[in-house]
Amino acid sequence: MVVVDNVTMIFNEGTPDENRVLSNISLKVDIGDFVTIIGSNGAGKSTLFNVIAGTYRPTAGEIYINKKRVTKDPEYKRARYIGRIFQNPLMGTAGNMSLEDNLMISCKKGFKWPVLGLNQKMRALFREQLKQLDMDLEDRLKDNVGLFSGGQRQALTLLMMVLSRPDLVLLDEHTAALDPKNAELVLQLTEKFIAEYRLTTVMVTHNMGHAIKFGNRLLMMDKGEIILDVSGKQKEELTIEKLVEKFHEIRHRDFTSDEVLLTE
Ligand SMILES: Nc1ncnc2c1ncn2[C@@H]1O[C@H](COP(=O)(O)OP(=O)(O)O)[C@@H](O)[C@H]1O
Ligand SMILES: [Mg+2]
Repeated sequence: MVVVDNVTMIFNEGTPDENRVLSNISLKVDIGDFVTIIGSNGAGKSTLFNVIAGTYRPTAGEIYINKKRVTKDPEYKRARYIGRIFQNPLMGTAGNMSLEDNLMISCKKGFKWPVLGLNQKMRALFREQLKQLDMDLEDRLKDNVGLFSGGQRQALTLLMMVLSRPDLVLLDEHTAALDPKNAELVLQLTEKFIAEYRLTTVMVTHNMGHAIKFGNRLLMMDKGEIILDVSGKQKEELTIEKLVEKFHEIRHRDFTSDEVLLTE
């Protein structure tokens, strides 16, 4: 599904600000995989997403998606089949547009729906979809999305992403800016949608508990490298303590980061 082949990313190469952010990263994500990524601040997690999504072209290495080499494809082309959600809950939806117009955009994206226009049939479909969020949004199709709370908007971003039926989902700490209650709600929805539509997903989280609890495979990144890759039974048996211990075994230093939550 996704192959990251020996990717290196160096910012400002050859200048005093040279910064090697990804070092010879190789990764293969299979169809239907739900991979979680944990790692301290600055480990290169978002940069990895940026090279997969085409925001940046890597300094070296190749990216393949669905067996096609996409390393040189621009971001807008890849966005047709990649659904990406960021930390900022205002980014995924257009605040100055109505809820129904926002939803129409995602139906048109990816060309997976036989969309003709915004008719009663589409509205009925939207209402039905919105009910799944359990946030009382199904009766607010005409309201501007800017009126909604952060939690509502991130849940909506998630629903819109699902409507576009992406081949690959990249979640970059998408619940980190929400209060605990909404973060939990959005995570539950995330899990439900991923399972229901069998979405191939990579989720970056700064919460070790979440990285362990969700998905079938866990990666740990540190200083531009993937230092740990566990799946299956080994992942099921992971605990936060084991993960911290493993980090120490591999890196010979303590796992300390203000960003990463060591507790649930
Ligand atoms: N566009 C850029 N130009 C220069 N440096 C960057 C750029 N984007 C990210 N970096 C640097 O790359 C490093 C890793 O950043 P990032 O991938 O955002 O880490 P993470 O998501 O794991 O916290 C940081 O040192 C950051 O400053
Ligand atoms: Mg990041």
